[in-house]
Amino acid sequence: MDEPQTERQDLAGRHLVVGLTGGIACYKVAELVRLLTKAGASVQVVMTAAAEHFITAVTMQALSGRPVLDSQWDSRDPNNMPHINLSRAADAIVVAPTSADFIAKLAHGQADELLSLTCLARPSEHCALLLAPAMNREMWAHPATRRNVDRVIADGAVLLGPTAGDQACGEIGDGRMLEPAELLEEVVAFFQPKALLGRRVLVTAGPTYEPIDPVRGLTNLSSGKMGFAVARAAREAGAEVTLVAGPVHLPTPRGVKRIDVRTAQQMFDAVMPAASRHDVFVATAAVADWRPATPASEKIKKEDGGKQAPKFDLTENPDILASVARLPKAPFCVGFAAESHDLARHARNKLKSKGVPLVVGNLGPDTFGRDDNALLLVDAKGERELPRADKLTLARQLVREIAACLGGKGA
Ligand code: C5P
Repeated sequence: MDEPQTERQDLAGRHLVVGLTGGIACYKVAELVRLLTKAGASVQVVMTAAAEHFITAVTMQALSGRPVLDSQWDSRDPNNMPHINLSRAADAIVVAPTSADFIAKLAHGQADELLSLTCLARPSEHCALLLAPAMNREMWAHPATRRNVDRVIADGAVLLGPTAGDQACGEIGDGRMLEPAELLEEVVAFFQPKALLGRRVLVTAGPTYEPIDPVRGLTNLSSGKMGFAVARAAREAGAEVTLVAGPVHLPTPRGVKRIDVRTAQQMFDAVMPAASRHDVFVATAAVADWRPATPASEKIKKEDGGKQAPKFDLTENPDILASVARLPKAPFCVGFAAESHDLARHARNKLKSKGVPLVVGNLGPDTFGRDDNALLLVDAKGERELPRADKLTLARQLVREIAACLGGKGA
């Protein structure tokens, strides 16, 4: 039996300063701190006076496990320089929510309280500044805020969001802070090595669904989890990612462009015109090899009390991976082989039959629908096992392999 899966510690060993400025989104940062610590980070919370109107330091201390700092005159540090000590110890300062006022302060290098002082004092090569803005849409759109945002980005800050949506003021528009889980995904992505920076990656994922009639179809048990993990890992590695997804109920990884399709033909039609514009194509989708030749336009009813089973002809679907691999300007193609036995032999055969440089073998019954998997990478040089782990961990390893195969830029 395999070991039960343990929670991934994507932020193990990272120390973060989480700074709260004044905004109703402060209540969401309680959850963010919980998620960051669960992911392995140690968190030191710093709050401005305005933030303390929205959420108490008691809550933030309980969740971070450390007393909250809120004054540059805090004399508990022997050197009496909390802004220096905080910014030297942290891998990143995450300001969430970041108010319009705080962005204005950063843009002008003002430092009249502990959090802005800490941001100004940070050694930028060791300590990143990640800002999660949250404000009313008019404030976000105001030319002064636009100028200030451009300035802080030019000065090295990284913006996480904001997004559009319902706002606390009752209005709808840009300026809403990302949800805690989205912020966690962004912070984790920030720390991943950028092995595919500047590359474009196309991924297929999930099953396809081939209609028999308006209410029935042929499909398979692929959950899409592996392909979604590959898309997320490629984006974390700095790539621009397009994900062509069959019918699955999975959230789109942040920053990934998603195209939803149902049938193999639709997947083919989405992939083929786009493929040559990409550096890498990873075909994780479990594409149906066959489809009913002429789907019935109305629901097929039982004839003769159901004794007579309906008959339908099947016709072959296009092989998307093989077709992409044959393109004159083919991207680096990675195929998946879901087998029930003899993994290495089948995967090696697939290298030839599909004409691709890398095939990733996995045992179908051991992966479909599960959160973990084990992979066997097969290429012209040999085979390499990636032992059982959660699918995102494996996807990150696969992305590193692909980057190494591409060589040069970003590898
Ligand atoms: O031939 P087989 O289905 O076993 O090959 C699996 C690999 O080929 C996977 O990478 C899958 O995404 C891809 N494939 C495809 N189009 C098909 C069938 C498979 O892209 N019609």
